[in-house]
Amino acid sequence: MKLDIIAGARPNFMKIAPIIEALKPVSNQIQYRLIHTGQHYDKKMSGNFFEQLGIPEPDVNLEVGSGTQAEQTARIMERYETLLLKEPADWCLVVGDVTSTMACSIAAKKLNIGVIHVEGGIRSNDLTMPEEINRMVTDSITDIFYTTSEVANKNLRDLGHAESKIRYVGNTMIDTLLKNKSRFTAPKAWQTYDLKEKNYFVMTLHRPANVDEETKLKKLIDEIVKGAKGLPIVFPVHPRTAKILKGIGIEAPNLHMIEPLGYLEFNYLVQHAFAVVTDSGGITEETTVMKVPCMTLRDNTERPETITIGTNELVGTNPDNVAPFMAKLHQGDWKAGDIPHLWDGRTAKRIIEDLLTL
Ligand code: UD1
Repeated sequence: MKLDIIAGARPNFMKIAPIIEALKPVSNQIQYRLIHTGQHYDKKMSGNFFEQLGIPEPDVNLEVGSGTQAEQTARIMERYETLLLKEPADWCLVVGDVTSTMACSIAAKKLNIGVIHVEGGIRSNDLTMPEEINRMVTDSITDIFYTTSEVANKNLRDLGHAESKIRYVGNTMIDTLLKNKSRFTAPKAWQTYDLKEKNYFVMTLHRPANVDEETKLKKLIDEIVKGAKGLPIVFPVHPRTAKILKGIGIEAPNLHMIEPLGYLEFNYLVQHAFAVVTDSGGITEETTVMKVPCMTLRDNTERPETITIGTNELVGTNPDNVAPFMAKLHQGDWKAGDIPHLWDGRTAKRIIEDLLTL
């Protein structure tokens, strides 16, 4: 079988790493080609993850770079189609919900190449987020779904997808987390800001809904700084957010803005944090497994099990909502949380065993 594995943006890399590792012993049955679309290209957003997670150099880099949603989608489709026409594949495996996920699945499917979606079926039902559109489009043309939760399975059944296409395998991002836990490394910030175990916050913000409007972003950050009650807040800043923050000039003695971190450094910080404040989806899965309290600054989530089972709470995007959640946290009233079924570090193995039956 000739399998294309697609990765384009930061949250894809930790999802493909264990799949590539699990393919090694079956290289005579499945020949894979790793395709990096080039959606993320900075070393801090891409290269470092390949190095730290031991992902081999991509066989092909489509080098599409930044652009609007449509520009990126169009460039990826054009370049991936050209590649497929020259050197076809039998299956195209995409992960997650980024622009590269959707663009490659469309290009492949239009050439009658089967689409495999790892992390299929999750839904926020919020069409203002580009990721939700990417999920809907990708799933609508997917042949095999590898899912992370019972909610995803139900979503797919409700949409009319045949039971035989839905395979509940768990979470490859958690395979990567569990495999690398012993290698987590303190970043420079640990010493620079004299961080102490369970005595600081980690914050990440990059969703357009939170960061694109200067006044709202300022108010959100102000509320978090106030709610932290003097505890340090370490804030690795995504390039998109950095551009906007430059114009606002936010400062507080306990707010430490730093460059995006590598995987091992970021997760070291999360593992030892008092709590995490984020608008990411993937991070809420990692905090669930590490049992670290997590406040999500979004009005919805496509990962409801991180709330019903895990340590995550939806705070929303209204800055006025932050204070009561902070109070609960400081009072020690945060839930302990549990780990969703099959988030056990063996998901990639299950995927490969199943791929061999296709
Ligand atoms: C993408 C994903 C999002 C994911 C996020 C994680 C989509 C629709 N969104 O959003 O789901 O959570 O990655 O990081 O795919 N930039 C750089 N260097 C880079 C890449 C981007 O400076 O290596 C800057 C560019 O100015 C670019 C902006 O960041 O315009 C946004 O990048 P883009 O890939 O469009 O989306 P993200 O916001 O990173």
